[in-house]
Amino acid sequence: MELTFVTSNEGKFREAAEIAAGYGIKLNWKKMKYLEPQGSNLEEIARLSAEVLSRELDGRFFLEDSGLFVEALKGFPGPYSSYVFKTIGNEGILRLMEGVENRRAYFLAVIAYFDGKNVRTFSGKAEGEISTEMRGSKGFGYDPVFLYGSKTFAEMGGEKNKISHRRKALETFFSYVMRNQG
Ligand code: IMP
Repeated sequence: MELTFVTSNEGKFREAAEIAAGYGIKLNWKKMKYLEPQGSNLEEIARLSAEVLSRELDGRFFLEDSGLFVEALKGFPGPYSSYVFKTIGNEGILRLMEGVENRRAYFLAVIAYFDGKNVRTFSGKAEGEISTEMRGSKGFGYDPVFLYGSKTFAEMGGEKNKISHRRKALETFFSYVMRNQG
């Protein structure tokens, strides 16, 4: 079966295409940016983005939205992860966390799938901690400050894709479409 992934991010597409292949799914890349409504909840944002986009695109498709949630910062930057990364970046996150003992954080990925009629969402989480310094150069975004065990995501490289929030969300989603295809 074939599915269309709407994203402007090539890294996300490649990662997803590889996981899809394991399910015998061929992924098509619809490379485009789309309007992301503001909101305080990733699931709601992903769902609304897909609903708006469904009026513009033909047929089925899915998109993905993700963010970093830091417990001591009450879930910040969460749905604002992209803006916060572009503005204060990893240095800013480390500064906000200076002297903070509770360093627990998680990444959340939400997939919104438009099946031609309705939008359904699927999510995945990766739990870790905010490091005290940036480490590694392999990933993107907040990877250098996200500790998973003893390594940051940016130090893990390919291993990250086996346990990432995005992987978990994609697996839940692909299992669902395989069970409900047709
Ligand atoms: P978006 O889902 O593309 O809007 O990403 C939201 C923000 O979270 C971006 O600034 C990304 O850099 C960051 N982000 C999402 N997933 C990851 C990840 O796996 N590692 C590091 N940063 C991530």
